[in-house]
Amino acid sequence: MIKIRQATVADCEAILEIEKAVFGEETEETLERAIKSPTFKYFVAVDEDAIVGYGAVNIMLGEAEILTIAVPEENRRNGIASLVLEKMIERAKKDKAEKLFLEVDIKNKPAIELYRKFKFQEIALRENYYKRKDGNYSDAKIMFLNLE
Ligand SMILES: CC(C)(COP(=O)(O)OP(=O)(O)OC[C@H]1O[C@@H](n2cnc3c(N)ncnc32)[C@H](O)[C@@H]1OP(=O)(O)O)[C@@H](O)C(=O)NCCC(=O)NCCS
Repeated sequence: MIKIRQATVADCEAILEIEKAVFGEETEETLERAIKSPTFKYFVAVDEDAIVGYGAVNIMLGEAEILTIAVPEENRRNGIASLVLEKMIERAKKDKAEKLFLEVDIKNKPAIELYRKFKFQEIALRENYYKRKDGNYSDAKIMFLNLE
């Protein structure tokens, strides 16, 4: 059974491995700092002893922002990101956030569908927000969920 818990520095290696496989980049120093940050909440999905997904939310001054969420390809469509997102929403509410925002590449259909399933609304478009590996830019959707 998959369980979601808050990440610790001991989870860094496993998170970085997923990050590298999914996004093709590693941010070791930043990750360790982020996990220790009082406003960033990192969560990991654990199946037996293996980490099969993670997500992070920044909660501050009554607002929250989803910073990232990722599941390795071989574990997708098993509801893991949904469990992580559910936990991040629960935590944001517990920490008195009233609004939850995120940015997502307009071409990232799986992620957009995930957020739509959780009733996020599309409130704005940020043009040329992401620089893609091929050098081209891609727009970001800003999505919003009212937590009140
Ligand atoms: C987006 C991502 C986190 C989804 O993870 P996941 O564990 O497969 O998601 P879930 O199984 O919880 O799916 C929940 C819902 O999201 C939607 N969804 C997920 N993957 C989808 C896909 N490939 N196509 C269409 N809808 C999809 C569906 O509505 C799904 O519900 P359903 O399975 O009942 O139809 C995963 O695809 C991923 O890691 N992608 C790369 C990283 C990324 O883009 N992260 C988000 C931006 S930071």
